[in-house]
This record gives sequence, structure tokens and C-alpha cells, in this order.
Amino acid sequence: MDHAVELLGLRPVYIDPPLLDGGVTGPVTPEAVAEALDAYPDIRLAAITSPTYEGVLSDIGAIAAVLHQRDMPLLVDEAHGAHLGLSAHFPWGAVSQGADLVVQSLHKTLPSLTQTALLHRVGKRVSHERLQHALDVFQTSSPSYPLLASIDSCVAFLEREGEPHFAAWRARLDAFREAAKRLKHLRLLTGEIDPGKLTILCDGTNMTGPELMACLREAHGIELEMARDGYAVAMTGLASGDEDFHRLQTALEAVDKKLAFR
Ligand SMILES: Cc1ncc(COP(=O)(O)O)c(C=O)c1O
Repeated sequence: MDHAVELLGLRPVYIDPPLLDGGVTGPVTPEAVAEALDAYPDIRLAAITSPTYEGVLSDIGAIAAVLHQRDMPLLVDEAHGAHLGLSAHFPWGAVSQGADLVVQSLHKTLPSLTQTALLHRVGKRVSHERLQHALDVFQTSSPSYPLLASIDSCVAFLEREGEPHFAAWRARLDAFREAAKRLKHLRLLTGEIDPGKLTILCDGTNMTGPELMACLREAHGIELEMARDGYAVAMTGLASGDEDFHRLQTALEAVDKKLAFR
């Protein structure tokens, strides 16, 4: 998103959602979008990241309705949610909720090579010709066939045998979340989130998110995805197995025992 702003010299209007537990940025509300549109009538496109890095989902259906009333398109950065809407075990994704353009990175949560993002154009609000022109301008004219083959093989795999894998992934996540309730100091972010993202809250304890990330790396050989002051994020994907969840659970239990409240 920031790259588009820079390349095209756009003048962005940012919506600053209220913070959730641990200082995690919350969802963008349809009301906040409507307010921004009223305050800045020159806005031509709304771009929402959902789910966020921390897994927070915004109500894309309601936001799309606000925009479409004004005949304005919605682009959703669903880089972290390529698995959404493909199985009843995970929430709906933006493609089926009314977004006009949706970008997904298959490689973040699904079995596909890095750099295999997809752009979905849904409906006719964004012209096919303008989109094709933009792709011609910004993309290479020599697409990588290994990457295209990886996308095809990922999609074929999901169509053929995705469902049992989604069910198993969700079952592992639910079991992990249940076990995490027994932790005394650390908590997992809950609410309107992608259940695949494990955002571990450490606010109120004597350990910061970056310290938790370093501790898991150095003492337990586990690499988290990112950390901020009050939390750290563990990413899981369709290929995360029992052993991965078990190792993280055991490590968190060990860390939790040594923590104290501030
Ligand atoms: C919200 C968000 N959008 C987009 C990207 C970039 O996606 P890609 O890996 O397909 O370049 C990232 C990368 O982490 C991200 O966090």
C-alpha cells in the first residue's frame, strides 16, 4: 500500500482504529470509513488491510456497503488471509464479502512458493481494461513459470484435498487456544480475528514482546513472526503440524512459569 502511495504520488488519508488488548491495532469500522469519506470528498479508493498482521478482521461486508452507496471501490489487502473463505473452518474472506479488488499472498498461509500473490477482481466496479493496463505497467513482462506452476499446484491441492487439511489445522488451533487458557501471565488475542494467527499478549507482565520473541528464539529454537511492545505474533499455516503446535505450547508454558505481573 505504501509503495503505491509513493509510486503514484497519492495523498492518503489514514484511519487510525482504536487499540485492542496489548496495543494491537483494532478493526476499521464502517462508521470510520463513512466519516473519512465525508471529511475528504476527493477520496477515490478505500484500501483496508484485513486480516492485519496480528490477525484482526474488519467487517468487509459493511465497509463495502458504505463505499458502494457512493459508487466507490474497496480494495482489501488480504495478504495474510489467502486461506479465508475456502472452508467452513475459517471465516469468510473479502472476495465473498463485497470487496472489488482483493490481494492475497498464497505463500503466507498456504503451500505455495514465496512471491505467489493473487489479485482478485470481483464484479465490474473496477474496469478490467484499467486494471490490465496497470498490471502491464507495474509487472514484469517475463512471468516466472515456476511461480505460476506453484500457484496452480496450490489451487489444485486445495480443490482436491484441502478440506481435511483445513479441518485438521483448525482442530490444532482450537486445541492450542484451549491449552493457552491455562497460562497465568500470557494470553492469546481473541475476538474478531483469523484463528490461524496466534497473537501472544504479554502486556502487564515483566517481559516485552521483543523479549518474548528473543527468549523463544534463544532458549527454545522457535522463530516468531514479529513483536511489538505488548505482544508477539506466531504465524501458523495449513502445513503447521502437531509437532509445531506442541513445541510452541511447551515453550510458552515454560516462559509463562518464569513471568511475573508488573
Ligand atoms: C499486510 C501485508 N500486505 C502485503 C504484504 C506483502 O505481501 P507479499 O509477500 O505478497 O509481497 C505483507 C507482507 O508481510 C503484509 O504484511
